[in-house]
Amino acid sequence: MEKEICEIPSVVEGILKKYNTVLSLKYHKMIKTISSAKTIHIAACGTSYHAGLILGELFEKYCQIRTKTYFASEVSDCLVCKEDVCIVISQSGETTHTLNALEYFNKLGIQTISLVNVENSTMANRADFCINLHAGPEISVASTKVFVASLLVGVILINSIAKLKFKQTVFKSRDFEELIASSKRAVKDKKNSKKLVHKDLQRLFYLGTGLDVYLAYEAALKIKETCYIHCEGYASGEFKHGPIAMVDDKTMIVDIASDGALGFVIGVIPNYFFALYLSRAKGLDPDKPRNLTKCVKDLDSYMG
Ligand code: M6R
Repeated sequence: MEKEICEIPSVVEGILKKYNTVLSLKYHKMIKTISSAKTIHIAACGTSYHAGLILGELFEKYCQIRTKTYFASEVSDCLVCKEDVCIVISQSGETTHTLNALEYFNKLGIQTISLVNVENSTMANRADFCINLHAGPEISVASTKVFVASLLVGVILINSIAKLKFKQTVFKSRDFEELIASSKRAVKDKKNSKKLVHKDLQRLFYLGTGLDVYLAYEAALKIKETCYIHCEGYASGEFKHGPIAMVDDKTMIVDIASDGALGFVIGVIPNYFFALYLSRAKGLDPDKPRNLTKCVKDLDSYMG
């Protein structure tokens, strides 16, 4: 996990290099297909779902396309029309719930796109279009660098669609340069997260506003997976409407405040380091979370 978080700056640089070259005709066809969609249906699980929540907001805001983001396991009875598209997001490309969601939208006859990290995975092959996340192999069960890769590749996609629809990109070269620099800073400052670790911590809340709400969900998932303590992510305002009653002297509250145009892409890095150090302080192995496997497959429920 530590190695993979530390790889994030090179993943960011690698993705930017890949997408800074001449892109294939198929890529342009896909951009055209998405830009004429009435609704984008995004389906994913876990960390990939959190990336989907963020990208969903960005598609609406910058591409002016209505977007619905689903837990892949809950996809059913969706209202679709023939111009809609479906995007699935997955590190492995093999998660059964997400595969089933992809099959569901394939059967409805709309165009499907997969954002996957594993080339030649089932999702890569079953979707009409596939975009590789180019994060390199992710071994740790707790997904980290692929979350950042999903956001960045999604942002590049959004930029291409905005350029096609509105003749101008949303994010500029200087934003991407700043992103590289800030990802390096976030990794260099990893020991700051260690200073906040108390091994007796029993409860943790991550709060945020705007896109940071979703980073709060993602940070909380990582604590659950690696530290086995109660942790939730909330919108800061909503926290006052009930959950605040849980706060006692064994509770820590972390306010996530990412900054800069693309700050949300790497805003979770300090929280990833915090989960890693807290897990170790508790005598746990963050690379071997209990009851979990890297890829959640349930072949009995596979509908493909
Ligand atoms: O391979 P996928 O992206 O489809 O996996 C989805 C989730 O199972 C996965 O993100 C899970 O939530 C991670 N272990 C979180 O760190």
